[in-house]
Amino acid sequence: MEIIILGNELLRKKAERVIDIDKELTQVAMELIDALHKGKGVGLAGPQVGFMKRIFAVHVAKDVPRVFINPSLLETSSETAKYEEGCLSIPGMYADVVRPGAVRIQAWNENGRPFTLDAEGILARVILHEYDHLEGILFIDRLSELKRKRIITKFEKLRKTY
Ligand code: NI
Repeated sequence: MEIIILGNELLRKKAERVIDIDKELTQVAMELIDALHKGKGVGLAGPQVGFMKRIFAVHVAKDVPRVFINPSLLETSSETAKYEEGCLSIPGMYADVVRPGAVRIQAWNENGRPFTLDAEGILARVILHEYDHLEGILFIDRLSELKRKRIITKFEKLRKTY
């Protein structure tokens, strides 16, 4: 699995609903977890590897790896929090992002079992970041225009000198 980076238009497309959680999809889920471990990330969504389906994997410290298929955000807290984020598709770039501090999400896991999860803190943040990927939204879209442009310019420069 290769992670695509900023500039690839697939990152800007909306992912499609998963119709069937079959063996192939379970395999994709496992590979997503592998890839996020290899990339030393905390979350990875299908579109980031060019798989345009509504699936993402999350693994934050002290928690188990979790897979979310066809997720629905049932509730997000009105209370927000600010925290530094990065993204495996925009390597090396970080910025403080404001998001709801807590979320209730419903999804299916890699075995086809539905579940509802109440998350807060880092887990909520990563879930919301990954959910955005399914909508073609990147964390830099949640910054001011000035900050977004600064990051894009810096990132492009970095890629050229690489
Ligand atoms: Ni990301």
